[in-house]
Amino acid sequence: MHPAHDALLPAGPQAAHLADIWWLFLGVSVVVYVLVIASLAFALVRSRRRAIADADTPRAPGSERTARLVVGTAIAATVLTLAGLLVGDLVIGRAVAQDADDALRIEVTGHQWWWELQYDDAEPQNRVTTANELHIPVGRPVELVLRTQDVIHSFWVPALHGKRDLIPGRVNRQVIVASRAGDFTGQCAEFCGFQHANMKLRVIAEPPQVFAIWLRSQREPAPSPIDAMQTRGRKVFMQSTCIMCHAIRGTDASATVGPDLTHVASRGTLAAGAVPNTRAHLAAWIANPQAAKPGANMPAHALAPDDLLALATYLGSLR
Ligand code: CUA
Repeated sequence: MHPAHDALLPAGPQAAHLADIWWLFLGVSVVVYVLVIASLAFALVRSRRRAIADADTPRAPGSERTARLVVGTAIAATVLTLAGLLVGDLVIGRAVAQDADDALRIEVTGHQWWWELQYDDAEPQNRVTTANELHIPVGRPVELVLRTQDVIHSFWVPALHGKRDLIPGRVNRQVIVASRAGDFTGQCAEFCGFQHANMKLRVIAEPPQVFAIWLRSQREPAPSPIDAMQTRGRKVFMQSTCIMCHAIRGTDASATVGPDLTHVASRGTLAAGAVPNTRAHLAAWIANPQAAKPGANMPAHALAPDDLLALATYLGSLR
């Protein structure tokens, strides 16, 4: 498995607790399995020997009592083991559910099939909206407020926490803390339609200073075109159907149907992890999204080749 997508290589306290209980259950299960198989083998060998010795010999007095003692001990051991696992489960459940003060609040909205991420701020103009790539500061609790725009999705970043569903008409929460820097992967974990498997997520945990720089740059409006090609690309964007679904802050585009594209070039992938974010992939995606992600809500765009190149160049400049 990819190291960044492994619940047994935890990068935060919540995932570490979950890994602990996984190992506890595995250890107990292995011991129980070995004991059961050993007892079975012992009983088989003994009954064979006895059958060979003499089937007609009456059983030794007291064998009934021994059998009762063995069964009673086994039942007691089973009850104690299960009770132990229950206690372990409750302790871990409490530890994982701990509330976090001074948490960074991020609104996560599930869409078919991408993640909308909004960084909360008391000042509305400081709120940042992005998609599919969650930047978080190392060491600081992050409270994720989980909603869905359509069907049930499930937020799951194995290195940081367990799964939490996004349910229509409900608000769910999950607190994560990254204890080390890293680039972790997530995945929608509830079947949500055709492109469920392509509803991926990246979590980039970075030192607080680096995170602060990132957040500041995301607050900025989109950079203006710096050459003729980019200027033409922006014009194509504003005059085509792009503007009906997407926002680019600092321009007239302000629709919220699809991902916010203000800083789209700062993201590593397109279409929630479906393809890498390069100019070639961007152009191919705009021309025919169904090729990379069949069923996606974005329609194909029959643009002239020059217009398509200009548009991809402009979007590629939005860092
Ligand atoms: Cu969203 Cu599966």
